[in-house]
Amino acid sequence: MALLDTPRPSTRLRDRAIRVVEAATTPLLPADYLDLFAPLRSGADLRGRIVSVHPETADAATIVIRPGADWAGHVPGQYLRIGIDVDGVREWRAYSLTHGPRADGNISITVKGVPGGKVSNHLVHDSRPGTLIHLEQATGDFVLPERLTARTKLLFVTAGSGVTPVVGMLRNLFPVTDEGVLMFGSRRRATDEQPLDITVVHVAPSRPESIFIDNLHELHEAGAINLVDRYDDVHGFLDVARLEELVPDLAERTTYACGPAGLLDALATHHEERGLELFTEQFRPVVISSGEGGTVTLEKSGVSLELDGATTILDAAENAGVLMPSGCRMGICMGCVLPMREGAVRDLRNGEITTATPGETNTGGVPIQTCISAAAGPCHIDH
Ligand SMILES: Cc1cc2nc3c(=O)[nH]c(=O)nc-3n(C[C@H](O)[C@H](O)[C@H](O)COP(=O)(O)OP(=O)(O)OC[C@H]3O[C@@H](n4cnc5c(N)ncnc54)[C@H](O)[C@@H]3O)c2cc1C
Ligand code: FES
Repeated sequence: MALLDTPRPSTRLRDRAIRVVEAATTPLLPADYLDLFAPLRSGADLRGRIVSVHPETADAATIVIRPGADWAGHVPGQYLRIGIDVDGVREWRAYSLTHGPRADGNISITVKGVPGGKVSNHLVHDSRPGTLIHLEQATGDFVLPERLTARTKLLFVTAGSGVTPVVGMLRNLFPVTDEGVLMFGSRRRATDEQPLDITVVHVAPSRPESIFIDNLHELHEAGAINLVDRYDDVHGFLDVARLEELVPDLAERTTYACGPAGLLDALATHHEERGLELFTEQFRPVVISSGEGGTVTLEKSGVSLELDGATTILDAAENAGVLMPSGCRMGICMGCVLPMREGAVRDLRNGEITTATPGETNTGGVPIQTCISAAAGPCHIDH
């Protein structure tokens, strides 16, 4: 055993060489120099380089990214978190991948700028090819089953930027090449050579604001999907209670939906009443509860903030210039959890109160998700 643990001469030599280089390059380490010249190499923190930015609509763009060598791939429908520096602050947000595995090894996301949105507007209007961004591996369970057959009948309901994960799935099922739409993509060949039965109900405020509408029409014309597109300015808001009029065989279909919380809630009620299967992906949390607010003290940062009962601690701290950990910003990923030493916070999704009392609760503090928590009285957070 001892023999196995003894470094081999070549390892000793390598370690000594690294120490010599470290001494010569202090305060920067060799890895820091490697990061400058080969930031996408295997073993480095996962990063990506923006390859190109393609406008989709007036306020949406597709960003093509060359991921680092350790990118582990994804299943269409999944999302990844990206970290990007905006005004000198590293911001993390989640974006769905809008393609299947690509021959060039790149990945793409499609971002719609939201009013007042820090990262989305930066990505859409100011991001440039060559920029390095931070990545996390793909995640999420808004994906199609492993095995699809011609008997699988699907309904996709997409609204606004909620079309992104669905386009990722469709592009994987029906790759578009110079010859047009391939009706038998990789997943299809694994099953049978019958067309899948897919209806897409796509909703947008207007056709010019509709991301990927040309792709959806192309798929429709090739017979890959049956597209029902509805525009608020032409057809009025989609009334989910009348979905059967648009999709008469709705009861035979499994529904995948992505869009604003109001639409997803209405679909959930509609499908539950009829015993229908529904899978959803949500881009932002539903705030249903607010309370009294209070003073939040971020102890290590030496910052005290007066918060109303509807603003999340994450938003308020970031707005005050505090560097906060974050991720999905909607209570899923736990990337924003910090210990609360003392005080009370309210979960804005359901109104639940979490308290920390020194001497009674965990000495290390009670973990709270700052992205969905508002102050419910004075609280002290270890950050
Ligand atoms: C799993 C997942 C996948 C996602 N995929 C995509 C995607 O493919 N394309 C895409 O464009 N976005 C996607 N998002 C949303 C994205 O992560 C950001 O929330 C969005 O880009 C807004 O970030 P921001 O920094 O611009 O806004 P912030 O500066 O964080 O917020 C500014 C204001 O906009 C509001 N806001 C925040 N998010 C939204 C939103 N989604 N819609 C409307 N208003 C919002 C906030 O309440 C706030 O008032 C996804 C989110 C999740 C959780
Ligand atoms: S940022 Fe994902 S749970 Fe808070």
